[in-house]
Amino acid sequence: MNAPDHTPNRSEHATTPLARASNGQTPHLHVQDVSKQFVTRKKGNLLVLDQVSIHVELNELVSIVGTSGSGKSTLLRIIAGLLHATSGVVCIDGQPVTGPGPDRGMIFQHDTLYPWLSVAANVEYGLKLQGVSRNERRDQAAYYVQMVGLDKFAHALPHQLSGGMKQRVAIARALANHPQLLLMDEPFGSLDAHTRTEMQQFLLRIWRETHTSILLVTHDVPEAVFLSQRVYVFSPRPGRVKTEIAIPFDTERSFGIRRTSTFHQLEWQLLDLLQQEHYEPSPPA
Ligand SMILES: Nc1ncnc2c1ncn2[C@@H]1O[C@H](COP(=O)(O)OP(=O)(O)OP(=O)(O)O)[C@@H](O)[C@H]1O
Ligand SMILES: [Mg+2]
Repeated sequence: MNAPDHTPNRSEHATTPLARASNGQTPHLHVQDVSKQFVTRKKGNLLVLDQVSIHVELNELVSIVGTSGSGKSTLLRIIAGLLHATSGVVCIDGQPVTGPGPDRGMIFQHDTLYPWLSVAANVEYGLKLQGVSRNERRDQAAYYVQMVGLDKFAHALPHQLSGGMKQRVAIARALANHPQLLLMDEPFGSLDAHTRTEMQQFLLRIWRETHTSILLVTHDVPEAVFLSQRVYVFSPRPGRVKTEIAIPFDTERSFGIRRTSTFHQLEWQLLDLLQQEHYEPSPPA
């Protein structure tokens, strides 16, 4: 099904029909020909995203890697409905995105918990905004707090938690709204190496248990290979999809895959692509 016209995210010029997924169905998330230009005082018009097309299927975990400034966070904000694209279209299950909605949860690099609310109250917060009854909210919050292994900390305040625990709460809070798509912007970027690998395994488990589709932005190439079913590599600004790489491991992957030659080959392939980009001269301003 083609997306209806006359939506803020749709370009007047974007007339190409939406591509189909390989199974012939409309992709769960479909970003087509999205460009974003910021108008800045110092640099004038700044093209940040140039005709980006990506998709995420139901239950898929897809990553984006790219150099700093290639528009990855900007793209996530457009998909979240927090920013409008200059042109192009974003659809969830064939429906154009026109603003934020509970079907999409967003998790940022830095903790965005409300410091005055307990873990459970943070998790409940979105449900309260949606008008869910108090008892139902409590049950839901307890379920997701337990899912992320923090039941003993349900009444703790954010400052009493470690960085990894705070990100677990952020994930529980997003999941409690039952999003169809989790948008994660370098969610583990501020964590130490050990906590980060623990959180990666935790995310895989949560993804398998909840069947939520995930679009993850990361700078960490091994993280992208370990977690993803597909990886998009972005060119430097303006961000374009340079290539897309399928990751052939099972969803039930264990930490041991990091020692396999396939893992190392994929890691080097991605690093080479990013490195090439790094040394390519920028077009004249
Ligand atoms: N609101 C804005 N107004 C003007 N320019 C912006 C705005 N938001 C982002 N930019 C610019 O757009 C470019 C892309 O920013 P963005 O944050 O999307 O990059 P990124 O790929 O997420 O980078 P990083 O990997 O460092 O997080 C940068 O040059 C940034 O300065
Ligand atoms: Mg970013």
